[in-house]
Amino acid sequence: MLKPIAAALHIMLIATALTACTNNSDAEIQPARKGQITIGFSQIGESSRWRAANTRSIQDAARIQNVRLIFSVAGLSQQKQISDIQSFILQKVDVIAFSPVVEAGWDDVLRAAKAAKIPVILTDRAIRTEDPSLFTSSLGSDFISEGISAAVWTKNEFRKAPGPVNVVELSGTPGSAPAIQRRAGFLEGIDGDTKFKIISSRTANFSRADGKRVMAELLRSHDDIDVVFAQNDDMGLGAVTAIEEAGKRPGKDIKIATIDAIHDGLVALSNGKINFIAECNPLVGPQLMELIQDVFLGIPVPKRVDTRETVFFRENVDQYINDRKY
Ligand code: AHR
Repeated sequence: MLKPIAAALHIMLIATALTACTNNSDAEIQPARKGQITIGFSQIGESSRWRAANTRSIQDAARIQNVRLIFSVAGLSQQKQISDIQSFILQKVDVIAFSPVVEAGWDDVLRAAKAAKIPVILTDRAIRTEDPSLFTSSLGSDFISEGISAAVWTKNEFRKAPGPVNVVELSGTPGSAPAIQRRAGFLEGIDGDTKFKIISSRTANFSRADGKRVMAELLRSHDDIDVVFAQNDDMGLGAVTAIEEAGKRPGKDIKIATIDAIHDGLVALSNGKINFIAECNPLVGPQLMELIQDVFLGIPVPKRVDTRETVFFRENVDQYINDRKY
């Protein structure tokens, strides 16, 4: 029998899980049918189109594959993600998957999952840990390559300019894998070329509103910005508005390279307000379900699975816009 405190904790955790699931429009907890795989998924909880498409892709793929999905949304809180994972452990799900809001600080809860023999698949974002046995596989975008692509485009665009070329960076959630790795990739792509100077790097939290606010501040303190490297489209689109409000022409007076390739980003690229986009593909649901089924059946899976992505320029973007549903 559970001791009173443990029992209360147990009830609280289950209640949290139920609340988390019912927070989501699609979520309902149904008992698993015989032989059905149950997965617990903890989503970061941003309210962007990219994240909504990511959520939809996972939920649709689970439905198609007849996987029972317990889905919770963490409102950008690592603490909430940890308690979601704890509740998945208590509910004895078959596989846990989550998109970690930040890189560090997961070891304790993943040790608990390992002790309960529940495999963990990292989705979209990776973690930093000394012990790679704490997760079975990691599925997501190559954030370093995305940063490199943006830098290579920048170098090429300004190859004939005498320099210096002044770059400002709008970066994502502090401590998150994409923010850390896209910056590292961008620096790697610039490859020590002293013509390119990152004159400011500020977080805008992957948000359009923050991108606009931070860019407006940057424009007030620097009148010599040549390029914005925005670590996602939303921040880049916020920067477009701020640049226009400052009386300059985005894409011409100030060039913009971004990452994601959501519909609004592709439209801005087509209109010449953004100049380059490296794709970060949110539609990972089918690949995630394949991995989960293999893990469930005991089939060895790769430690790392990259999502398929491409890059977009003004010259190739128009053919993709109509098909982009997010
Ligand atoms: O982890 C993926 C990144 O997170 C996407 O680029 C971004 O839009 C989201 O905020």
